[in-house]
Order: sequence, then C-alpha cells, then structure tokens
Amino acid sequence: MIKTPICRQQLKGITTILSLVLGCMGTGWAVAAEDGDAIPEHEYSKGVKRCMLCHKEGKPMAAHEIFLTPMGISGDPRAPFADGNHDCEACHGPSKSHLKRKKGVRPPPPITFDDKTPVEAQNKVCLACHDTGARFHWPGSVHDTEGLACVDCHDRHVPDDPVMNVQTQSAVCFKCHQEQRAQFLRQSRHPVQGTTSSLSHVGLMACTDCHQPHGSAGPGALKRNTINEQCYDCHAEKRGPFLWEHAPVSEDCTNCHTPHGSNHENLLIARQPWLCQQCHVARFHSSDVYSGTGIPPSGADQRMLGKQCLNCHVQIHGSNHPSGVRLTR
Ligand code: HEC
Ligand code: HEC
Ligand code: HEC
Ligand code: HEC
Ligand code: HEC
Ligand code: HEC
Ligand code: HEC
Ligand code: HEC
Ligand code: HEC
Ligand code: HEC
Repeated sequence: MIKTPICRQQLKGITTILSLVLGCMGTGWAVAAEDGDAIPEHEYSKGVKRCMLCHKEGKPMAAHEIFLTPMGISGDPRAPFADGNHDCEACHGPSKSHLKRKKGVRPPPPITFDDKTPVEAQNKVCLACHDTGARFHWPGSVHDTEGLACVDCHDRHVPDDPVMNVQTQSAVCFKCHQEQRAQFLRQSRHPVQGTTSSLSHVGLMACTDCHQPHGSAGPGALKRNTINEQCYDCHAEKRGPFLWEHAPVSEDCTNCHTPHGSNHENLLIARQPWLCQQCHVARFHSSDVYSGTGIPPSGADQRMLGKQCLNCHVQIHGSNHPSGVRLTR
C-alpha cells in the first residue's frame, strides 16, 4: 500500500487528519473536525474486539498486554480505549482495510511503529495526547533533531515499560549511548544501574535523576537550568553560601568532576596535585609543576612527599570557618 508515491501522499494526508482528530480528543473536544476533514467513521474497524480476534494472547502478534498499561484503562476519558477514541486505531490509524486480505495480501494498518511509517508521523500520534508537561521541550530537543521516535525508548505494549523503570532504564539508553555505558563502569561512578550484577550499588539512580530525555531548557538536556543546580539537588551541602568561596566550585562542578564516571577517586577529572595545578601554576610553596619523575619508590624526591594539596586545603568546596581563608579549615 505504501509502495507507490501516490499512496504515500494519501498516507501523509491520513496521518495529518488523524493527528488533528487525536489532538482534539486529547483536550476533550469534539472528535469530528469542524471543516469536514475528519476521517470518515466507516474507515475505522469499529471495535477492539475485531482486532483481538487475531491479536489475542497466544497469537504470533499478540497485543493483549496493552490492557495492563495505564493506556488500556477504558474508564480514563483521555485514553485510547475510552468511548469514541477508536481503541487500537487511536494509535494504528483507521485499519478497516487491514481486516481483510486483498489478492492474498493484508495491507498493514496506516501507522505501524517501524520503518514503514516515517518517524514524524509516528511521533505525531503520541504527541497528539502527550504534547504537554515533560514534552514541552521536545520540539528542537537533541533527541527530536536526531530523528528519534518515541518508540525508540518506549515500549507501548508491555505493562512495565523498561525505560520507565529505574532498574532497566539505563539498558535502553545504552543501546545508543555506548560511551556513557563505559563511563558508568569506571571505578568511581554515580550508582546508576550498571551492566553487571557484581556492582555493589546499582540501580539506586537513573539517568532521569539528572536528565530529561524529552529535552529541557538546561544544558545537556539536564532537568535543572545549570549543572550546579543539578548537583545541588542531591549534594545540597556543596551549595553554600560559604564565607570563603572557592571560585571554580560555585562556577561549575565539572571544573573538577565528571558527572558519569572516572578512574580517579571521587569522580575527579585528574589526580592531585595535577588537578589543582591545571589552574594554580604560580611558583608558590608546593604548587610547583611536578613531572612524572621522582615518584616513589624509584626515587623519593622530597618535593613530591607530603604535598597533597588537600592535606592542608581540606575545605576544597568552600569554608565557613572564621579563619578558613585559603580553605585550610
Ligand atoms: C483477520 C485477522 C486480523 C485482524 C481482524 C486484525 N489483524 Fe492485524 N494483523 C494480522 C496479521 C496476520 C498480521 C501479520 C502481518 C501480515 O501477515 O500481514 C497483522 C499485523 C498487524 C500489525 C503489524 C503490521 C506490521 O506490518 O508491522 C498491526 C499494528 C496490526 N496488525 C494491528 C491491527 C489492528 C489495530 C486491528 C484492528 C483494527 C487488527 N490488526 C486486526 C491479522 C489481523
Ligand atoms: C498507545 C498507542 C497504541 C495502541 C492504543 C495500540 N498500539 Fe499496537 N503498537 C503501538 C506501538 C508503539 C507499537 C510498536 C512496538 C511497541 O512499542 O511495543 C505497536 C505494535 C503493534 C503490533 C506489532 C507487534 C509486533 O510484535 O511486531 C501489533 C500487532 C499491534 N501493535 C496491535 C495492536 C492492537 C490489536 C491494539 C489494540 C488492542 C493496539 N495495537 C493498540 C502502539 C499502540
Ligand atoms: C488517545 C490518547 C493517547 C495516545 C494516542 C497515546 N497515549 Fe500514552 N497515555 C494516554 C493516557 C490517557 C495515559 C495514562 C495517563 C497518563 O499517564 O497521563 C497514557 C500514558 C502513557 C505513558 C505513561 C504510562 C506508563 O506506561 O507507565 C507513556 C510512557 C505513554 N503514554 C507514551 C505514549 C506513546 C509513546 C504513544 C505513541 C505510541 C502514546 N503514549 C499514545 C493517552 C494516549
Ligand atoms: C530518549 C528516550 C525517550 C524518548 C525518545 C521519549 N521518551 Fe518519553 N520517557 C522517557 C523516560 C526515561 C521516561 C521516564 C521519565 C521519568 O521517570 O522521569 C519517559 C516518560 C514518558 C511519559 C510518562 C511520564 C510523563 O512525563 O508524563 C510519557 C507520557 C512519555 N514519556 C511520552 C513520550 C512521547 C510522546 C515521546 C515522543 C515525542 C517520548 N516520550 C520520547 C524516555 C524517552
Ligand atoms: C535510539 C538512540 C538513542 C537512545 C535510545 C537514547 N539516545 Fe540520547 N542521544 C541520541 C543521539 C543520536 C544523541 C546526539 C548525539 C550525542 O550526544 O551522543 C543523543 C544525545 C543525548 C544527550 C545529550 C543532550 C544534549 O543536549 O547534548 C543526552 C543527555 C541523552 N542523549 C540522554 C539519553 C537518555 C537518558 C536516554 C535513555 C532514557 C537516551 N539518551 C536514549 C540517541 C539516543
Ligand atoms: C549525576 C547526574 C547525571 C546522571 C545520573 C547522568 N548524567 Fe549524563 N550528564 C550529566 C551532566 C552534568 C552532563 C554534562 C552536561 C553539559 O556539559 O552540558 C551530562 C552529559 C551527558 C551526555 C552528553 C555527552 C557527554 O557525555 O557530555 C549524554 C549523552 C549523557 N549525559 C547521557 C547519560 C546517560 C545515558 C545516563 C544514564 C545511563 C546519564 N547521562 C546519567 C549528568 C548526569
Ligand atoms: C539524584 C541525586 C544525585 C545528583 C543529582 C548528583 N549526585 Fe553525586 N552522588 C549521588 C549518590 C547517591 C552518590 C553515591 C554515594 C555513594 O556511593 O556512597 C554520589 C556520589 C558523588 C561523588 C563521590 C563519588 C565517589 O566515588 O565516591 C561525587 C564527587 C559526586 N557525587 C558529584 C556530583 C556532581 C558533580 C553532580 C552534578 C553533576 C552530582 N554528583 C549530582 C547522588 C547524586
Ligand atoms: C576545585 C575542584 C573541585 C570542584 C570545582 C568541585 N569539587 Fe567536589 N571534590 C573535589 C575534590 C578534590 C574532592 C575530594 C575530596 C577529598 O578527598 O576529601 C571532591 C569531593 C567531592 C564529593 C565527595 C566527598 C564529599 O565531600 O562529599 C562530592 C559529593 C563533591 N565533591 C561534589 C561537588 C559538587 C556538587 C561540586 C559543585 C558544586 C564540586 N564538588 C565541585 C574538588 C572539587
Ligand atoms: C578550574 C580552575 C581551578 C582549579 C582546578 C582549582 N582552583 Fe583553586 N582557585 C581557583 C580560582 C579562580 C581561585 C580564586 C583566585 C582568586 O580569588 O584570586 C582559587 C583559589 C584557591 C585558593 C585560595 C582561596 C582563598 O581563600 O584565597 C586555594 C587555597 C586553592 N584555590 C586551592 C586549590 C586546590 C587545593 C585545588 C585542587 C584540589 C584547586 N584550588 C583547584 C581556580 C581553581
Ligand atoms: C603543607 C601544607 C600545604 C600544602 C601541602 C599546600 N598548601 Fe597551599 N597554602 C598553604 C598555606 C598555609 C597557605 C596560606 C599562606 C598564606 O596565606 O600566607 C596556602 C596558600 C595557598 C594558595 C593561595 C596563594 C595566594 O597567593 O593567596 C593557593 C592558591 C594554594 N595554597 C594552592 C595550593 C596547591 C595547588 C597545593 C598543591 C599543589 C597546595 N597549595 C599545597 C598550605 C599548603
């Protein structure tokens, strides 16, 4: 059906109209569009029962599990299965022609959530009911502009959508974000569900503790407007205000930390003293630039010993001690 350009055109028409209709339904308006553009009722199959004849439990393409999701609740007037919302066809489009085989072929429903239907048309179906709330920033978000479909993350036919569950979410993200997967396997990391069960503290956090995957006003699709605001959500004691501030801390935590994982302790981007010496290079007490030579046991250079900056500058995030100048107490 969608092989010829003409049919594509028609399909596009149908989906546009469909989304119009759905848009109206989402806000509880009358189902039929006023200008008469609405899909003729007779193109719908009239009833979920017809669909379930062939898609019931045990059949190769069983679809019954959708009734175990919040979307399957027919008592919710906004749901696909509420009166007048066309049930399965609210998402799959008017499917009357799918019910019968023509010349041995069964035309698929107008909307299938695979590469037979363009991503834009797929997403329109979902956005018709879900364009508010967290989806406010979806248009123009990275995942939108990269051409992701809602169903790249969401599984609509299972009762426990894996992407909505802290324990299973990261596996969905890691399908595409392999680099981040590697980061979360490092020695120091945020306790997001890892990839092996031997990790001692997994599944306490999800990507969505920091990110809004539908897009946000913040950088890097973070839920908060700045990186620091995001970190303060859980590390409130680092917010201050401090009597003695350390400028890079209040500026951006990622001056010293990497958010996902690091092989340096405490998620640091570098080891000390090099961490500090990225910014503090003045020839002053122990902040001389060190080289890799002279490290014990090959040769214990006195300039290398006892010079861990934090031995003295213990309050690295800021101090409220009256004599805490230089962050030493
Ligand atoms: C008479 C049996 C029958 C009925 C009734 C039926 N289907 Fe199907 N459907 C099938 C078969 C068989 C397939 C597998 C694809 C094929 O072989 O053409 C299928 C495939 C599908 C697919 C996947 C299409 C694809 O290409 O990915 C969807 C979605 C679907 N049906 C939705 C529906 C909906 C919605 C209804 C009710 C309006 C419905 N079906 C009613 C037999 C039926
Ligand atoms: C909320 C939208 C929505 C509703 C309502 C819906 N579906 Fe689907 N359907 C999808 C999506 C999205 C997929 C793609 C796979 C997935 O996300 O699970 C899909 C996939 C399918 C498939 C292909 C499954 C496969 O194994 O490849 C069939 C068949 C199907 N749906 C039938 C139905 C039937 C029958 C109903 C009504 C009982 C229905 N759908 C209601 C969204 C919906
Ligand atoms: C006819 C309107 C309608 C359409 C179309 C629709 N939804 Fe829903 N959806 C609902 C309603 C109603 C709920 C339940 C109430 C809520 O959570 O807001 C819901 C719930 C959800 C939830 C959260 C519930 C859960 O499973 O835990 C997700 C995720 C979701 N929808 C995704 C989608 C996606 C993806 C699509 C497109 C394939 C889609 N929806 C199409 C009406 C719709
Ligand atoms: C990159 C993966 C991803 C994509 C793409 C995506 N979502 Fe989601 N979605 C999620 C995650 C993760 C959650 C759970 C959010 C949470 O727990 O804070 C979620 C939650 C939801 C919910 C239920 C909670 C809420 O915010 O109301 C709905 C509805 C929803 N998504 C709809 C959509 C629609 C519609 C699209 C396509 C326009 C879409 N999603 C695209 C990952 C995604
Ligand atoms: C189907 C592939 C796919 C899936 C699944 C996916 N993403 Fe993405 N995501 C991308 C692509 C492509 C980009 C853009 C390139 C990049 O930054 O890697 C991106 C970018 C991002 C960014 C950077 C945003 C920015 O503004 O720079 C974040 C954060 C992100 N994804 C989080 C997530 C989370 C969290 C999940 C799981 C809930 C997820 N992604 C699932 C493909 C995906
Ligand atoms: C503790 C908070 C936090 C958690 C949890 C988290 N991220 Fe991030 N993520 C960040 C911050 C902060 C950035 C940097 C944003 C910037 O620089 O604009 C970032 C950036 C990204 C980027 C953009 C590319 C990059 O690496 O800079 C992607 C993609 C991403 N995160 C994916 C994920 C995925 C997938 C998960 C879950 C497995 C996840 N993040 C969990 C805080 C977090
Ligand atoms: C949703 C809550 C949450 C957010 C947001 C968050 N963290 Fe964390 N952070 C944690 C938890 C939980 C731990 C682990 C504590 C443990 O393992 O004992 C942790 C540990 C750390 C550690 C110590 C790591 C180690 O190896 O012991 C650092 C450093 C850190 N976070 C920095 C940050 C930075 C920087 C940000 C902002 C990008 C941030 N956190 C955002 C919850 C959060
Ligand atoms: C100038 C570099 C630097 C900046 C910027 C910085 N930190 Fe740290 N952070 C460190 C160092 C060094 C440690 C290790 C402290 C130790 O070993 O006592 C650390 C340790 C931590 C720890 C784990 C130990 C603890 O004190 O709880 C957390 C959590 C943390 N930082 C959060 C943050 C947050 C949140 C920000 C942004 C507001 C931030 N850091 C900015 C250098 C920095
Ligand atoms: C990203 C750059 C940067 C990094 C990394 C950094 N600092 Fe700083 N630090 C600054 C700046 C900027 C100031 C403020 C200088 C000023 O006010 O003149 C400062 C000030 C200080 C001061 C003086 C505070 C005062 O009260 O006058 C000390 C001590 C200090 N840093 C120690 C450290 C140590 C120890 C580390 C490593 C754990 C470190 N810094 C890492 C940028 C950095
Ligand atoms: C043995 C303790 C000790 C060690 C180790 C140490 N410092 Fe200091 N540092 C001090 C003291 C004490 C002061 C205050 C000196 C003063 O105000 O007269 C100071 C002052 C500073 C200042 C402020 C300088 C200024 O001009 O105001 C910076 C920056 C600084 N240290 C960075 C570092 C860095 C970077 C390291 C590690 C490479 C480091 N310190 C290691 C004790 C130490």
